[in-house]
Amino acid sequence: MPRLDRLQSIWGCRAMALRAMGHVDRTGFRNRTSPPTTWLLSSRHVPHHALARLALAVAAYCIGATELATTGPLPRIADGVRRSTDRTPHNHDNRTGEHSMGPLDGRTALVTGASRGIGRAIAQRLAADGALVAVHYNTDEASARRTVDHITENGGAAFPLPGPLGTAGDVDRVYQRLDEALARRGLPITLHVLVNNAGHNTHGSIHTVRPDDFDHLINVHAKAPLFLIQQALPRLPDHARIINITSAATRVALPTSLAYTMAKAALQSLSPTLAKELGTRSITINNIAPGVTQTDLNKHRWETPEARAQNAQHTALQRVGHPTDIADIAAFLASDQARWITGQTIDATGGSHL
Ligand SMILES: NC(=O)c1ccc[n+]([C@@H]2O[C@H](COP(=O)([O-])OP(=O)(O)OC[C@H]3O[C@@H](n4cnc5c(N)ncnc54)[C@H](OP(=O)(O)O)[C@@H]3O)[C@@H](O)[C@H]2O)c1
Repeated sequence: MPRLDRLQSIWGCRAMALRAMGHVDRTGFRNRTSPPTTWLLSSRHVPHHALARLALAVAAYCIGATELATTGPLPRIADGVRRSTDRTPHNHDNRTGEHSMGPLDGRTALVTGASRGIGRAIAQRLAADGALVAVHYNTDEASARRTVDHITENGGAAFPLPGPLGTAGDVDRVYQRLDEALARRGLPITLHVLVNNAGHNTHGSIHTVRPDDFDHLINVHAKAPLFLIQQALPRLPDHARIINITSAATRVALPTSLAYTMAKAALQSLSPTLAKELGTRSITINNIAPGVTQTDLNKHRWETPEARAQNAQHTALQRVGHPTDIADIAAFLASDQARWITGQTIDATGGSHL
């Protein structure tokens, strides 16, 4: 059996063994009450290497595939960036020495515009939950590198992925680089979570908006995500997740961001429209619509105490948003726990302009 297929089988068998022992249920959730065998398998007193072998042996026994029981430990990713399924201690508790599975263990995520701001926070959070994250960016390589370093320093796995969106051939380039990066790591060309986040705002009112700005905003915020999803389809397994970052501007009038709002509204309409078709494969697609969030894009709205106070007063929670406020919602939508939510827009504004 080719090495990759064998590895996938091993993980499948391991999951079967854990399920058989009541450690996780069919959806991958960990059960609260564990039988003694499960305790043994999750105990810090038994080295993981031994645990992996024991789980494999049980799984192999269950399906009669004794070959699997003799397979060696799971490999490390060659460049030193380790995969979370490799028992990377992203959920390692230094006090107890316990390792636990993250909700996105073994999954791969692509977060566009992850070098800074909201995308960076989402990338960091998905990696902390166990995903291998492709940190996409436009031109700011240094910031993308900082996102990747932050993830790997905290025991997660990530790699940078450059690719300006809104230009000819943009989506092809992103997937070519993603596929190459996964292949280099000996991983299947599979994407479990796609987050369409990249974007910027070129301000313009009805009096000042220019056709070129309109075209570019539509290309970046609506066209690129549409075709990123189209080309993702063959790479997405059943139960995959698509998350589009839209904007509260689609609900609250921002007359000086006219083309931006129209572009975000186009993106926002994509999720309910596509949800039914993707639902046949249990793939969910949802929007998160942030309000004023503390990033480079919106500096003028929070940098001075006056601007911050003025924007905070529009929210029920009396503050401007932080990128992690958005990232926590994205992590939920990416998780198995959000399996029953699709085609929806989550307002992420702290209750703005209610
Ligand atoms: N901040 C807010 O208050 C707010 C509110 C509502 C919605 N949003 C939306 O949230 C998303 C993230 O915004 P943010 O506030 O985090 O912005 P940000 O801090 O300025 O970060 C923008 C990210 O998108 C990337 N990017 C921008 N234009 C791109 C292009 N043409 N091609 C590829 N990548 C591009 C940037 O890459 P480089 O670093 O390489 O430039 C960066 O990683 C955007 O879609 C924005 O519209 C933000």
